[in-house]
Amino acid sequence: MGRIGKLMMVAILMIALSMAGTNTFSAQTVWLDELDLSAATQGWGVPMKNRSIDNKTLTIAGKTFERGFATHSVSSLLILLEGKAVSFSAKVGIDDEVKGHDAAAEFELYGDGKKLWSSGLMRVGDTARVCSVNLTGIKKFELVVADGGNGNYYDHADWVDARFEAKGVTTFKTYNPVASEPYILTPKPSDKPRINSAKVFGVRPGSPFQYLVAATGDRPMVFSAKGLPEGLKIDQNTGLITGVLSNAGTYMVTLEAKNAKGRAEKQLRIECGNRIALTPPMGWNSWNCFAHEVSAEKVKKAAEAMVKSGLINHGWTYINIDDFWENHRDSKDPSLQGKFRDDAGYIVTNSRFGDMKALADYVHSLGLKIGLYSSPGPWTCGGCAGSYGFEKQDAESYAKWGFDYLKYDWCSYGNVINGLPDNDPYKVSSLSYNGGGELATAIKPFKLMGEYIRQQPRDIVYSLCQYGMSDVWKWGDSVGGNCWRTTNDITDTWVSVKSIALDQDKSAAYAKPGNWNDPDMLVVGHVGWGNPHPSKLKPDEQYLHISLWSLFSAPLLIGCDMEKLDDFTLNLLTNDEVIEINQDPLGKQATCKQTIGELRIYVKELEDGSFAVGFCNFGLDIAELSYKDFSKIGVNGKFKVRDLWRQKDISTIDSQTGQLPVKVPVHGALLYKFTPQKR
Ligand code: GAL
Repeated sequence: MGRIGKLMMVAILMIALSMAGTNTFSAQTVWLDELDLSAATQGWGVPMKNRSIDNKTLTIAGKTFERGFATHSVSSLLILLEGKAVSFSAKVGIDDEVKGHDAAAEFELYGDGKKLWSSGLMRVGDTARVCSVNLTGIKKFELVVADGGNGNYYDHADWVDARFEAKGVTTFKTYNPVASEPYILTPKPSDKPRINSAKVFGVRPGSPFQYLVAATGDRPMVFSAKGLPEGLKIDQNTGLITGVLSNAGTYMVTLEAKNAKGRAEKQLRIECGNRIALTPPMGWNSWNCFAHEVSAEKVKKAAEAMVKSGLINHGWTYINIDDFWENHRDSKDPSLQGKFRDDAGYIVTNSRFGDMKALADYVHSLGLKIGLYSSPGPWTCGGCAGSYGFEKQDAESYAKWGFDYLKYDWCSYGNVINGLPDNDPYKVSSLSYNGGGELATAIKPFKLMGEYIRQQPRDIVYSLCQYGMSDVWKWGDSVGGNCWRTTNDITDTWVSVKSIALDQDKSAAYAKPGNWNDPDMLVVGHVGWGNPHPSKLKPDEQYLHISLWSLFSAPLLIGCDMEKLDDFTLNLLTNDEVIEINQDPLGKQATCKQTIGELRIYVKELEDGSFAVGFCNFGLDIAELSYKDFSKIGVNGKFKVRDLWRQKDISTIDSQTGQLPVKVPVHGALLYKFTPQKR
């Protein structure tokens, strides 16, 4: 080749190289709506591409958009960038299709676990806000729509004109980092008797007494109780203790359960005095599965399933009817239409219910207890008749029917304070936040009903539901409350469970026997507010959920369709050693004592001097380490470590020198008991 030829070759090579460089390194646009959006998890509905949640043109504050990702708060979409994105930009806002409702949410962007941008609170009608973030070096990117603090019913969130500038790639993978395969941890219960019901029980003098000796093991089983005070008797076939105690006092009883394989004994402390719900209530509530579709028939079926599934043998007790047992303000459904009250002001049930006393008797006959729901406002959150102006009659009805539990839900009470019209119930419920921020108005309606409830000749667990306004944990006890919601409604999404979990430490000091912080009901099994589907929480997320709610001493209310309990869910809800943490008589609530990256270590002191310790992984990677900071979490000296989910001792450790290998799956938890040993 001549000189000219060589020069030409070099020139061609240089052009080729520079062209290759263009292909590999110059930025190009990757639209968010071109990615697989089905990996998104969200509170309601399905992720939408270029259409709104209601399948309409994407519209924010009157402006329409052709491209975008519509989702329902709370929501999360994870995208694997592997450092190949340069930037992300989008406009965000609440879709106009929910105009007229109090929809609000916050849009957030996270890169490798750190917050990169937040929209601030956005309400429907707000013009779209622009985000633009640099993504250089970011491997994992997350789009989050967080709760706007007003309930999530109408939070239709749009990410529009959303795109990446990328280098050398034309698309990105969306993913869910959590394993999907369910796996069973709780060992099968022994065929020998084991008594699982709480070690302490509170009752008021003169109130009907009902305590079931809940026990696993082969049937037939014979129950007895030594030292039962006068006025109480035990049914030796069922283990149900009933009667009435006339005198206040502490009574120590030895419970016994016997079958062909063996016998078990347990001490029960009966505290007859002023306080009830000395351990967190455990049971079922209709809302998270049936919502507005609840009926007496469904409630009966749930109660029967509580028995048939064996859950009753692990201490699960309450069968609670939520909203929609009353008649509705303006529903088109004939089964919800009718008189709200009789001439004397006593509430009338809707036609799906009818005889509430018969229903309560039936549930009691199964060895269970029964609860129901109302609102201090004129309407419940769902728009049914509330108790406003009829609190006395309502408390009397509940007692006359034989109810054991009342959930009292703020909702339209805000309208009473603010003089607002009662139109959309959901709008009403959100607007009512206004009044709840002021201590005196927040307390007033709960105090009123609390007093009427206390005047009834039976013990009714009083559960306040006002989403944590005015720091309810500081005054809930003073109005007779036994538990109080600390949060907005939970959904079966990781974002929801995580944000609720991270928010519980603030109220922890106020938990004690008879007073429980309530981070809302359990979202395991088939849930779905009238349209049940298997919980969208992955198995590890469910282990974390149950571990934390146990550590929190939270009321444990199963929210699923009890007739569709699968093996995994049943296994999750029947671990007696985990339940024992929740039901510990000392009544302390765990707090986060240490954070290592996104691994949070929760510790709960127990009555016997030991500690329940939860290693909870809120991050996107497996947390693996050799743990040795025992003194940081308040554990000193020699102690035994037991894995409660697997019900296995794993080691004995000296806090000064020992190490505990810890490996926690993404969004999962290890729940251990550390029991001090004599040296
Ligand atoms: C909500 C409450 C839910 C459910 C619902 C009934 O305000 O937080 O748990 O009770 O009302 O309409």
